[in-house]
Amino acid sequence: MPKVYVVDREGVEHELEGQPGWSLMEIIREAGLPIEAACGGCCACATCHVYVDAEWLGRLEEPGEEENAMLDSAFEVRETSRLACQIRFRPELAGIRVTLAPEF
Ligand code: FES
Repeated sequence: MPKVYVVDREGVEHELEGQPGWSLMEIIREAGLPIEAACGGCCACATCHVYVDAEWLGRLEEPGEEENAMLDSAFEVRETSRLACQIRFRPELAGIRVTLAPEF
């Protein structure tokens, strides 16, 4: 099973099983890590905000208009910010590493 690495807000890295076809948010939530994902993945809340390791950023599809609009309303946004519900996991993303953004 391809792996996904997620750093929590305490700086602890977790190795998760990457389920192809699931969003990164679903993988993180299913593993029991604290990702609020209040809208359930509809790109309407920005509580699935993560920082993608720079080396992986270029391998993702560009964020869509809706994702960019939601990120505009998020806190602590960085160059590497993405919404985890908008990243569809596929085998080529095996080994991707993201960090949970702070909660507010
Ligand atoms: S879960 Fe709400 S925007 Fe991702």
